[in-house]
Amino acid sequence: MASKHDTDVNNLLQRREVLGPAYRLFYDEPLTPVRGEDVWLTDAAGRRYLDAYNNVPVVGHCNPRVVAAMTEQAQTLCTHTRYLDQGVLDYADALLAHFPGCLNRLMLTCTGSEANDLALRMAQACTGGQGVVVTQNAYHGVTQLLAQLSPSLAPHGPAVRTIPPPHTDDNESVAAAAARWGAHVAAAFADMQAAGIRPAALLVDTVFASDGIFPPQPGLLDDGAAAARAAGALVIADEVQAGFGRLGGPWWGFAHAQLQADIVTMGKPMGNGYPMAGVVAQEAVVHEFAHTGRYFNTFGGNPVAAAVGMAVLRELEERQLPEQAAQVGAYWRQSWQKNAAALNHAPVRGLGLYWGVEARSGEHAARVVNHMRQNGVLINNSGPGGRILKIRPPLSFQTQHVDQLMTALLGAWDVSQ
Ligand SMILES: Cc1ncc(COP(=O)(O)O)c(C=O)c1O
Repeated sequence: MASKHDTDVNNLLQRREVLGPAYRLFYDEPLTPVRGEDVWLTDAAGRRYLDAYNNVPVVGHCNPRVVAAMTEQAQTLCTHTRYLDQGVLDYADALLAHFPGCLNRLMLTCTGSEANDLALRMAQACTGGQGVVVTQNAYHGVTQLLAQLSPSLAPHGPAVRTIPPPHTDDNESVAAAAARWGAHVAAAFADMQAAGIRPAALLVDTVFASDGIFPPQPGLLDDGAAAARAAGALVIADEVQAGFGRLGGPWWGFAHAQLQADIVTMGKPMGNGYPMAGVVAQEAVVHEFAHTGRYFNTFGGNPVAAAVGMAVLRELEERQLPEQAAQVGAYWRQSWQKNAAALNHAPVRGLGLYWGVEARSGEHAARVVNHMRQNGVLINNSGPGGRILKIRPPLSFQTQHVDQLMTALLGAWDVSQ
């Protein structure tokens, strides 16, 4: 029987003009996935690819439990948060159980951008300020406000100051690197204040993904957070990339860094593909925000979202996927060490199942990515100049998948020089 899918890439490319030129496709030869299952994507021609890139399907593509929860709730009721609904309350309790006790309120949105927007409104309500400090190649979202806070996307706005991502240099202690980063944060807020802008927030992606992937060690962000608070700003941890066990073990980047956050934003993996995002904050912060007015998000926190979110939580918990991510991540590191010479001792950074490999150049990285795609393994590149190979599979990734990934990487590395 003929496939119902169009396998003619040129035809699809032509038809895609309907979407306009702002979108970008991955890979020199674009991929046409038509089916997903766990860590696998199948294309229109029936070829299977190992997905070592997509973090949204955190519990696996088309996870049966998540799909069943979504279907059952969609067949039963889908309203919004203006009605009493037990599902969203059960979800809030279950999610907040993974947070420190002081972070005890949840508000729900549909996208990470909306979550960051809401977090910034909370910070503005609490501080009376507008100024925000972000890292120099940060990405925090697509709205007018978030684009101004996303230097990797667009020039930053007038009330925004940028700083380098925190990292320890060779042989540098965490305390010394923390002090260095803290000085950058203090200087950025001082500059802002000198321009008459009142500070509102230090906003950090806790794995510094678009800055080149720098998972912070415990304590590394402390001095920066202290500098933000000294300037009267709140600390917002953007967990859209790092959250839900991505870094292995503890569920959040801020927990790995032992950072005290005032507000935490989440998205991407929260609904395993269903558009779901949210903000967790201290009670006092949410109360202060509530003084400024009401909040209603038509779709955020609806009964289907609550059912989906709960199924994702239960999969993560019962299958112990964050713990598995820590183990599989350690296996990847060992495999890397074994093959370091063949990979020219390229710098590698990461934690759990979020890894960045520094290729020689952006061009080298792009060639590696395309070669691997041709050989059935999907990764991508990002960071400044596109030089960092980004490896970020579903958390159901296992050691045999690491072996396949490493074989493909070794095969691509040299021919792509
Ligand atoms: C760190 C970070 N924050 C926020 C966002 C925005 O999320 P969304 O695309 O759901 O609006 C992204 C998306 O890539 C992100 O990586």
